[in-house]
Amino acid sequence: MDPEYRFSHKHLLGLADLSAEDIQSVLQTAESFKEISSRAIKKVPTLRGKTIINFFFEPSTRTRLSFEVAAKRMSADTFNISSSGSSTVKGETLIDTARNLAAMNPDCIILRHPRSGSARLLADHINASVINAGDGTHEHPSQGLLDLMTVQEAKGRIAGLKVAIIGDIAHSRVAHSDIIGFSKMGASVTVSGPATLIPPGIEELGATVSRTVLEAVEGADVIMALRIQKERQQEALFPSLREYAKFFGISPKVVDTAGPEAIVMHPGPINRGVELDPKIADGSRSVILEQVTNGVAVRMALLYLIMGGD
Ligand code: CP
Repeated sequence: MDPEYRFSHKHLLGLADLSAEDIQSVLQTAESFKEISSRAIKKVPTLRGKTIINFFFEPSTRTRLSFEVAAKRMSADTFNISSSGSSTVKGETLIDTARNLAAMNPDCIILRHPRSGSARLLADHINASVINAGDGTHEHPSQGLLDLMTVQEAKGRIAGLKVAIIGDIAHSRVAHSDIIGFSKMGASVTVSGPATLIPPGIEELGATVSRTVLEAVEGADVIMALRIQKERQQEALFPSLREYAKFFGISPKVVDTAGPEAIVMHPGPINRGVELDPKIADGSRSVILEQVTNGVAVRMALLYLIMGGD
């Protein structure tokens, strides 16, 4: 990396905004912070005095807790607000609510919202840094970064690998961030899923489309299964979950087709027996819980780089 390089982004709205050097810098910083989480006293003073608000309009287990754990391990003050507990239920707009939060002088607002573009909207209207924790079907950049970190750890590199992403590509913000991130870092990305869930023009993000899962995973180093996003589908886009599992679920046969070294990933939450055969989800190829562990390290790195901790 260029010795003059400095991460200089105030917000993280999508991996589309980051260069390969930016991504490498986040991954290196995350690797250096990861060790803090295995200490007996899991706390450093790096972000003491900083205020972070988790503003989540959708359910979340991993992302919300992971950002909160990351912030607390770096001694920042964290506050959580959800849509049901906020005045948006009384009709206040997202921007008005955000301006009121901003009037309390937080350093960073972490937003999850069902509308694509909501994180950018917030960033355009307030002074605090904004981190996109998933906006509609657009991007989930911190998930993309933790996926990159997990692959880099498991494989020792990202460039030159083949990554197969299987499932609901159309509605998955994780898929969009992963396609952008892995392509920027020099991996080749192939996607497959029901034809109704492959959006036209996905190749423009850097992906190749395969008609069948077996074709997509052939020679793959990484198999990424995606969650079926029933809440984002306006209509039934495939006949049944049983048929989805049969044609697009990651089974032992699919993993065997990829080759003996392939790893299996999933952003969670898993629909067991639909996207992933339980034998694969809990098997030796699965790095799903490593993804969650790395999520804390990546989010510590992001908070540090974005808020300029000492
Ligand atoms: N991967 C992910 O975004 O999970 P949560 O919805 O639990 O945050």
